[in-house]
Amino acid sequence: MKKVLTGLQPTGVITLGNYIGAIKQMIKYQNEYESYLFIADMHAITINQDKNELRKNIKSLLALYLACGIDPNKNIIYIQSDNEYHTNLSWILECNTYFGELSRMTQFKDKSSKNENFSAGLFTYPVLMAADILLYDIDYVPVGLDQKQHVELARDIAIRFNKKYGDIFKVPEPLLTKEGTKIMDLVDPTKKMSKSSINQKGVIRLLDNIDDIKKKILSATTDSDNKIYYDMENKPGISNLLNIYSVIKEIPVKELENKFKDYNYKDFKEEVADAVADLISNIQEKYYRLINSDILNEILDKGMDITRKQAKIKYEKVKEVVGLGR
Ligand code: AMP
Ligand code: TRP
Repeated sequence: MKKVLTGLQPTGVITLGNYIGAIKQMIKYQNEYESYLFIADMHAITINQDKNELRKNIKSLLALYLACGIDPNKNIIYIQSDNEYHTNLSWILECNTYFGELSRMTQFKDKSSKNENFSAGLFTYPVLMAADILLYDIDYVPVGLDQKQHVELARDIAIRFNKKYGDIFKVPEPLLTKEGTKIMDLVDPTKKMSKSSINQKGVIRLLDNIDDIKKKILSATTDSDNKIYYDMENKPGISNLLNIYSVIKEIPVKELENKFKDYNYKDFKEEVADAVADLISNIQEKYYRLINSDILNEILDKGMDITRKQAKIKYEKVKEVVGLGR
């Protein structure tokens, strides 16, 4: 069976963008493929994290995965730092990755330009991501558009390594949803909806108050044309809302243009707001039932055991072909 894998960082509460870009895809693929879903806590510490917040966010992210509809019987779910082979392999891969390649990563350029004292980990971050993927012979990696370049780097690293050392790694492919691979900020729809955004009005988080969520959508930035159709360049606000509605309701944007053609913006926004509010209140109801349950630890223990065994085999093989150890 083909394998899919993705991870999210436990930095703050995840957004509607994360849900659409990564989790929703995993919910679909869990029925078709062998699925791996992890909590990328090692990636989270590439920028400064408060210790107590980080701990809290790790558990919270797991409960959110489940509340969103990730089935623990169909997914191997684990914490990245529970499996030391990720960072072990990452070092070997770093020694097979060029400085120039990492310097070209747009996310690194972006994040390092905003911060004078960035860590070396922020720079090597994509190599750890490659290790996350290459340890398990993964076929597909569902991600949002902003992570595509990193998955492509993982491909390049795998291809280069295989040329040098033999057929060791499966070469993975990124999987992007057609619509909504990039959900935009509601206040500035030319910018990605991001966990780290300063203006809270532009971002919907899965644990936000439901009335606030509705208000954010009703006051989303649009244009003055009062016609509803998809045009990301000239009508980014309306197109973003169409994308969101389309993914949630599983209706193609083309059909929605037809459905909403006689709507004014206010009525359209209300319908989008209701759809998002329904989805998220459902998730929250499950989340609050799960957050203090023992099931969470059981799931993580199981995921840790399975992935450690699998990763050890791959890692030992890599050590052997590279000539490490005895
Ligand atoms: P992160 O917030 O960086 O941990 O992202 C977790 C996953 O969500 C990655 O696959 C991202 O590509 C995806 N993602 C983050 N923000 C968005 C967004 N605004 N639209 C679509 N996908 C997103
Ligand atoms: N870097 C990803 C993000 O910020 C999270 C991540 C870490 C990941 N390792 C991964 C995603 C491996 C897919 C595959 O979103």
